[in-house]
Amino acid sequence: MRILVTGGAGFIGSHLIDRLMEQGHDVLCLDNFYTGHKRNIEKWFDNPYFELIRHDITEPIRLEVDQVYHLACPASPIHYQFNPVKTIKTNVLGTLYMLGLAKRVKARFLLASTSEVYGDPDVHPQPEEYRGSVNCTGLRACYDEGKRVAETLAFEYHREHKVDIRVARIFNTYGPRMLKNDGRVVSNFIVQALDKKPLTVYGDGSQTRSFCYVSDLVEGLIGLMNNDYIGPINLGNPGEYSVLELAKIIREMINPDMELVYKALPQDDPRKRQPDITKASTYLGWEPMISLKEGLELTIRDFQQRVS
Ligand SMILES: NC(=O)c1ccc[n+]([C@@H]2O[C@H](COP(=O)([O-])OP(=O)(O)OC[C@H]3O[C@@H](n4cnc5c(N)ncnc54)[C@H](O)[C@@H]3O)[C@@H](O)[C@H]2O)c1
Repeated sequence: MRILVTGGAGFIGSHLIDRLMEQGHDVLCLDNFYTGHKRNIEKWFDNPYFELIRHDITEPIRLEVDQVYHLACPASPIHYQFNPVKTIKTNVLGTLYMLGLAKRVKARFLLASTSEVYGDPDVHPQPEEYRGSVNCTGLRACYDEGKRVAETLAFEYHREHKVDIRVARIFNTYGPRMLKNDGRVVSNFIVQALDKKPLTVYGDGSQTRSFCYVSDLVEGLIGLMNNDYIGPINLGNPGEYSVLELAKIIREMINPDMELVYKALPQDDPRKRQPDITKASTYLGWEPMISLKEGLELTIRDFQQRVS
């Protein structure tokens, strides 16, 4: 199949492309390199089944493909808050153009949505039916409200134009190729511990997160794309850890003598985050396989090569 991956030079997109190339597909990677890098995909440059397109999805584009994995959008607060209006344009205009493309060529379209659509949740763990508690005027709104509109667009294109959609709500994902400066909790702790700097815990560290290793997530995305169930469907690892626990695990793995320092919580930081993956296991037969310890070892090894 000819498969388009928007945001394919980014963290998750590049791992997805590795898997799709290994499966023998013809892959088009589309990216504006805002947070993505050529180094993430350079191993495919000489492969005739791989094509790289530098393009910003806030402008329309015409391509002929069978499937679209729509991932283009900065995912970490540091990057999506750098230019919030651009983030909204990427989510709204970008998704609109990509749905238009899917409609024109009758391609199946998978939206990479996010657990952020649940905001700071009152229901725990979060099932897909939970409608969320999002602050529409807060600092995270450009991203989480943007993704909520992107989901709405996907469902309206499905109802009105019969576009064959899939919607994945991705929970915190980590692994090799995360950016060193993206400010997400796993990369922050690893980089600080490798740099022999104190690990920064926001708040008292009691807020919880779940962490899905990237290869598990990629299997979930491909499973959803090739399944009849359209979603929205949670993809994440239900193992729940407090941020303080995570800091201690990473400190133990890299540098047990490192200090922890505490800073104020950022605005609208969710207190809890844990996916209910009943639907993913029922409809897709999917569940994560990689333990936090294993995944962190692989991630730390990758950061060690880049940080040193
Ligand atoms: N990583 C996570 O934990 C997580 C969690 C939930 C949802 N997601 C979603 O998964 C997708 C991929 O996330 P990621 O972690 O790989 O992030 P990332 O920042 O590494 O990748 C995003 C990619 O999209 C590209 N991009 C951004 N704006 C673009 C535009 N206007 N036009 C073209 N390309 C553009 C970037 O250059 C980058 O390569 C995003 O849609 C994100 O919202 C990620």
